[in-house]
Amino acid sequence: MILIIDFGSQFNQLIARRVRELNIYCRIVPPDIKINDIKSINPEGIILSGGPSSIYEKKSPKADKKIFSLGIPVLGICYGMQFMINSLGGRVKKAKRREYGYAELNIRKMDGIFRKINKNTTSWMSHGDSIEKLPAGFSVIASTSNTRIAAAENLKKSFYGLQFHPEVEHTPRGKTMLRNFLVGICGCKRTWTMKNFAAHSISQIQETVGDKKVILGLSGGVDSSVSALLIHKAIGRHLTCIFVDNGLLRKNEAKRLKETLNKHLKINIKFISAGNKFITALKGITDPEKKRKIIGKIFMDVFELEAKKIKHVEFLAQGTLYPDIIESQSAFGGPTSVIKSHHNVGGLPLKMKLLLIEPLKYLFKDEVRRLGATLGLEESLVWRQPFPGPGLAIRIIGKITRKRLSLLREIDAILLEEIKTAGYYRKLWQSFAILLPIKSVGIMGDARTYENIAAIRAVTSKDAMTADWARLPHKLLGHISNRIINEVQGVNRVVYDISSKPPSTIEWE
Ligand code: XMP
Repeated sequence: MILIIDFGSQFNQLIARRVRELNIYCRIVPPDIKINDIKSINPEGIILSGGPSSIYEKKSPKADKKIFSLGIPVLGICYGMQFMINSLGGRVKKAKRREYGYAELNIRKMDGIFRKINKNTTSWMSHGDSIEKLPAGFSVIASTSNTRIAAAENLKKSFYGLQFHPEVEHTPRGKTMLRNFLVGICGCKRTWTMKNFAAHSISQIQETVGDKKVILGLSGGVDSSVSALLIHKAIGRHLTCIFVDNGLLRKNEAKRLKETLNKHLKINIKFISAGNKFITALKGITDPEKKRKIIGKIFMDVFELEAKKIKHVEFLAQGTLYPDIIESQSAFGGPTSVIKSHHNVGGLPLKMKLLLIEPLKYLFKDEVRRLGATLGLEESLVWRQPFPGPGLAIRIIGKITRKRLSLLREIDAILLEEIKTAGYYRKLWQSFAILLPIKSVGIMGDARTYENIAAIRAVTSKDAMTADWARLPHKLLGHISNRIINEVQGVNRVVYDISSKPPSTIEWE
């Protein structure tokens, strides 16, 4: 395994992705990780990430310098390189201006980290400070016209520093450089596959849970389904899943999910129909955060009531993913964590005195999908687009009524059908409809109408942290709009959302 020390670069998750794409397991850890913890993890190599700070800033993140005495290869990228050089007695020059963008790399030594790479190749720079003097034992292995020490090595100790970013696609041979470091220098075996992950994870769950019982809130989404399948493979009937129908799901979704889950996951599932409770409590509420709080609270109450009926439960399973963990441990705190109070079952373990198991907490979304496929999860579940816990409640802007719920369900069903038929469902991170709280004038036949407006949102994204509005073909958008206006009584206008995240969010509320 490889440890990536997180100095706060926006590219950190990319480093982890690249390492894992090479079938090598890695974890991102904060800079204040204790040296003894590193020793007990016993990584085959350490990568020091980039970061927005200058080592001259008082509060710049620092790792324990003892990492350089562990006898483990270290690769410092950008700020990581500067931290390494500064820690080992070299000198970093404070920048007058930043160097940002493409730079032609002149490689002096086409071996080690630059094995199988041409003498001249493109690199992507994004740095302020630069290295002025190397510590003893280091030599320059590449330069650019602006940066004399663009890459350096200490061959004896297997320390490498790259001033540019090998993890981004703008450095076309970056992946080969990382492979050279990981396989050639650290000696990692490329054995990390979803099959191995599953086997390892199943035995870990068995060890943790023993003969106790586990409950899991099943939403029908890929994360909770894959968690359920994995845990079921580990402990069988000792897992009980609870599916709460909150009355805020898409058209026919509760019914269809129930059929698929029953047919496909041969797991203990309790289906609880609680729509009335949710819809009654939401009456008259317009504030998005209030909606979330109400939904979260009722969900907890319903879930707890059901969970208490099961004897000897000691664990609660959750489908937490790696980006959530990285966000909350990042050197600079998660930027998005307070924007919306995402509804999850976070309060439950404390309330019910349960221990948490989160078998997916070191995986990215696409890895979870691959794991699902490896475990034999049905395609429709593996490829389901994410759906928020509060469901349609945060897609009906303003007051929620049964009438508006059913209106949105009809609109959304047409949209989804068309997106699927056109072959876009898997290409999009999410695609959905929103019902607006205003009316507009239209004309149908000879008559004036004054009806609702539906908005359509379709985005591409890798992890929902950022998202771009999808450039769907105009013909498809036109067709969707025609169908909605013709088939859904009460809608006379359809608009397409062309904003990206940030500054917008994916959901409207
Ligand atoms: P935003 O709107 O913050 O959404 O860009 C990012 C991702 O999170 C989903 N989302 C939620 N999921 N409870 C959830 O379980 C919520 O309250 C919630 N709000 C947003 C959203 O669908 C997108 O995938």
